[in-house]
Amino acid sequence: MGKIVVEKLYKIFGPDPHKAMDMLREGYSKDAIMEKMRHGVGVADASFHVEQGEILVIMGLSGSGKSTLVRCINRLIEPTAGKIFVDGEDVTGLDKRGLRRFRQKHFGMVFQNFALLPHRTVLRNVEYGLEVQGVSVAVRRERSMQALEQVGLKGWEDSMPDQLSGGMQQRVGLARALALEADIMLMDEAFSALDPLIRRDMQDELLNLQEQVKKTIVFISHDLDEAIKLGDRIALMKDGRIVQQGTAEDILANPANDYVAKFVEDVDLAKVITAGAVMKKSETIAHLRTDGPKAALRKMQKAGISSVFVSDHGRVVGIVTARDCRKAADRGEKSLAPIVDRNIQKVLPDVQASELFAMLGGSKNYPVAVVNEDDHLLGVIVVGSLLAKLGETYQGENGGKAERQD
Ligand SMILES: Nc1ncnc2c1ncn2[C@@H]1O[C@H](COP(=O)(O)OP(=O)(O)O)[C@@H](O)[C@H]1O
Ligand SMILES: [Mg+2]
Repeated sequence: MGKIVVEKLYKIFGPDPHKAMDMLREGYSKDAIMEKMRHGVGVADASFHVEQGEILVIMGLSGSGKSTLVRCINRLIEPTAGKIFVDGEDVTGLDKRGLRRFRQKHFGMVFQNFALLPHRTVLRNVEYGLEVQGVSVAVRRERSMQALEQVGLKGWEDSMPDQLSGGMQQRVGLARALALEADIMLMDEAFSALDPLIRRDMQDELLNLQEQVKKTIVFISHDLDEAIKLGDRIALMKDGRIVQQGTAEDILANPANDYVAKFVEDVDLAKVITAGAVMKKSETIAHLRTDGPKAALRKMQKAGISSVFVSDHGRVVGIVTARDCRKAADRGEKSLAPIVDRNIQKVLPDVQASELFAMLGGSKNYPVAVVNEDDHLLGVIVVGSLLAKLGETYQGENGGKAERQD
């Protein structure tokens, strides 16, 4: 069960929303409903979940319903229909008091336009939400100072907002949300107003911060690169509907429709596809202490491969080739140690395909070992499988209709 679960959520703007919902179900489009009955479809039939500690990015063009959707989660906007659960609690059933308590416990929000109060110092801006909650001066000061430190603004607490750059003002916005110590952050285009370099810095900061605070984050963006960088998963919206959701890779590899395909066509796939996705899982490994050249050779023959990684106490330490094993066996050698080539390339599963190309170009043509943090072998990558995966993905990007140029 997810931290946040949203089921069949609708938000229609206008006096007779349920009639509009019926029309939606009958297949009328958002535009048609606007034309026929002047009702705005904000969100239509949206279902999704967000896991504890996850960053879900909601993406879509302007007007697609992103802001309406996140504001429904904490009922800043009342949904027309549907269910929302946070920690299993039905949010749509809460009365006014329950809702206030619920918002305090769970939600921090960060907006695009920073929304800082111009006549308050940085510190007092960060304190603001706690002040509203009636938290004592001492406690709110301590929490706010800590939040300012987390966003790298220690020393700026007595400055006024207009003395700060845009990036710094957004850090104040972030600190204000962090100080609330809520477990969910709703970030609506939080970085969209920042210029590109500062924006990238802020994205890095957010990811670093997230490592420490492990909040559940719903992040809205209309920028695919940002979505790919930040999102554990991405939900794509169009005309109030979620048209696709999944990891960046899922979406890039298999766009659900032309709209999604359009969105993703500019992305450099080699930056998105990771070692973990292209590797061939491998159970075949030779053990340095217990396998000799003959045993290693037998393992290679069984797996149909011409070289095999060698491990020592579970850690990958090198590679032996079938050729060297054969020679060593002929010489009567019993140990792999003299023929292990320790000059191998190891990567973690999240390394980008673009980096792998460079590594695979090496002279010896060894595969690259994909290992976890303890150096256990997870899989192997050879040039062929990398190219195959990319080819498959490019093809998928065209909706399966690969265009031939020849
Ligand atoms: N208060 C409102 N009254 C009427 N229509 C609204 C209101 N808020 C949003 N909408 C409509 O809902 C749709 C989604 O808007 P919004 O959620 O702001 O999109 P996004 O954040 O993706 O740009 C738009 O068509 C918008 O015009
Ligand atoms: Mg918006």
